[in-house]
Order: sequence, then C-alpha cells, then structure tokens
Amino acid sequence: MRTIQQEKRVSLDGKRGIPIDSVWQHKHILDLDDFTPAEIELVMQTTDAMHEILSRPIKKVPALRGKSLVTLFYEPSTRTRSSFDLAAKNLSADVINLAASTSSVLKGECLVDTLETLEALGTDIIIMRHPHSGSPYVAARHVKAHIINAGDGWHAHPTQALLDLYTIRQHKSKFKDLKVTIIGDIKHSRVARSNIWGLTKMGARVKLCCPFTLLPMGLDKSHGNFPDIEVEPNIDRALKGADVAMALRLQLERQQSGLLPSLREYTKMYQLTEEKLAHAKDDVIVLHPGPVNEDIEISSSVVHGPRSLINQQVKNGVAVRMALLYLLSGGTH
Ligand code: CP
Repeated sequence: MRTIQQEKRVSLDGKRGIPIDSVWQHKHILDLDDFTPAEIELVMQTTDAMHEILSRPIKKVPALRGKSLVTLFYEPSTRTRSSFDLAAKNLSADVINLAASTSSVLKGECLVDTLETLEALGTDIIIMRHPHSGSPYVAARHVKAHIINAGDGWHAHPTQALLDLYTIRQHKSKFKDLKVTIIGDIKHSRVARSNIWGLTKMGARVKLCCPFTLLPMGLDKSHGNFPDIEVEPNIDRALKGADVAMALRLQLERQQSGLLPSLREYTKMYQLTEEKLAHAKDDVIVLHPGPVNEDIEISSSVVHGPRSLINQQVKNGVAVRMALLYLLSGGTH
C-alpha cells in the first residue's frame, strides 16, 4: 500500500519517482496561470493518493498535524468551504472557519488587519474567498502564511479548475487535443478563467460559447500571453464534436445590468439540454461547478442524467484540496 511519505516522491512517469520539491514551486495557490503542466500533473497524481486515503474506514492521516488553517470567506460558499474544511481535518490540521459576516470585518476591520491578526494567532495556511479580484495577491504580500485563493471576484478559482481537470482525467484518456466547450456567463466567471489556463496548459482545446454581451474583454492573444481559445456564440456549433461540455451558472443577480435581453431568451438559446448535447460526441461528459440554476443554464434532465459528473466534481473537491494542502505544506518554502 502506498504511504503518504512515499507520495512525497510521487512519480510523474511511473518509473523515476520525481520528488515533489523538484516539481512544486508554489508557496501560494492564486491562479493556474503560473502553474506548469508538471505541477498540474503532480496535483493529479497526489489526488490519486488522497483518494486511496479517502477509501479507508478511517480517513485521516497526520500530514498536517500541528499546522493551523483558517478558511476566511467574505462571500457565501457551500462546496469550496466545506471541502477545504474536510480536507484539512482529514490531514489532521487544526481548522478555524471565519466568515466575514460573523467577524470583526463587520466592525470595519480592513482585510490587511484581519490577515495580520490571523498571522499573530499563528495561522499557517489561509484559504480565502473575497469579492474583490486580486485580494489573495494582496494577502500573499502581507503575511508569511500560505494563501490559497478560494475565489476572488470575477478573476480566478484555481482549486475549482483543478478539481474539474481531475474529474475530466478520470473519464478521458488524455488532455491533449480534448475538445472542451464552456457555455454561459463567462464574463463573470472566475471558474472559466482558471479552467482556460489549466486546460490549455495541459493541451486541451477550449471553445467559449455565450452571447457577446457575456464575453469579457481581453480573452485573446492580443492581450498579453492569454491562452489560445476559440469563441463560438452558436451553441450547436460550439458543441459539435465536444468531449466535455461545461455549463456555468448564470449569475442571476446581474439580470438588471442590461447584458441579456431576457432570461427566457437566454434560456432558450444557451440552456444545455439533451437536444443540444446531441451535437457533441456520444461519450461527452457534462460538468458544472455549482451552484446550479436548474432549467436556466442547464436542464434538469442533463443535471440528473448519465453524462452529468456534477456530484463527482463535488466529491473530487475533497481529495484535490487534500492534495493541494499536502503539497503546499510539504514544499520547499
Ligand atoms: N463551485 C463553487 O465555488 O461553489 P461554492 O460557491 O458553493 O463554494
């Protein structure tokens, strides 16, 4: 049986046993734009080892014993926060869950003061969700703790993208040239941005499908070194030959902003239905990061149908986050 210590020398090719320290370069996990394909592969392989731990009757190992971890959430969350909580406890870390709504943030404390307070309390790892894009980068500059971005504004959600990659990897033999169609509210989606980085680094071909009003500026190579992706606003054409269809939550709170003519029209044109999925490959898999607006961006029959991996994504979230906590705490920093 593999042990967690052996996994510190997890093999990238099944033979040579490349040590983590020669591959893993991260003190923080802020987005996937600065991940190498080898690091992403290391996360995938370490997640395999974590799955083995999760299959045991007692799902607990001492890898993070003596480490303290805080989940610091300025926005609501069900999946990310609870899976980080479980992941950290499975690795024997001491966990404090802090929501802005029940902390001194309500008394006017600023982000940096909150972070410095957590540092003074001896926190080793801070998992942070914040409505402002870039705030985890500010945190990484101010405290010595490891920072994990659990979603910052519209910018990035790297741990969601890694669990999406892991779920795809369980069902498809390779990422190279895999056709992935991401459909929906891309403008406001941190999940889409991180997935674009992760998928393209692993060699997948990403197509975005949405009304032009929900397409953010700057998603092309003319804006810095953004990955090469395609945009196809017609959903039937966008899904043609797709191996993976990823639906995104329509952020209903933005309905009044004039970006959509009407919810009814959006649903008619962009809802992922069985009929539209018929354009994809027969063995297409369906992902959605959640929470789902059933019968808005995706039909109930697709959500609960045989191609849907939505619950598997949630399940994989625990193992992937265990792998990330383990890699961060076992790294060279
Ligand atoms: N996918 C995701 O981030 O879900 P939560 O908002 O429930 O964490």
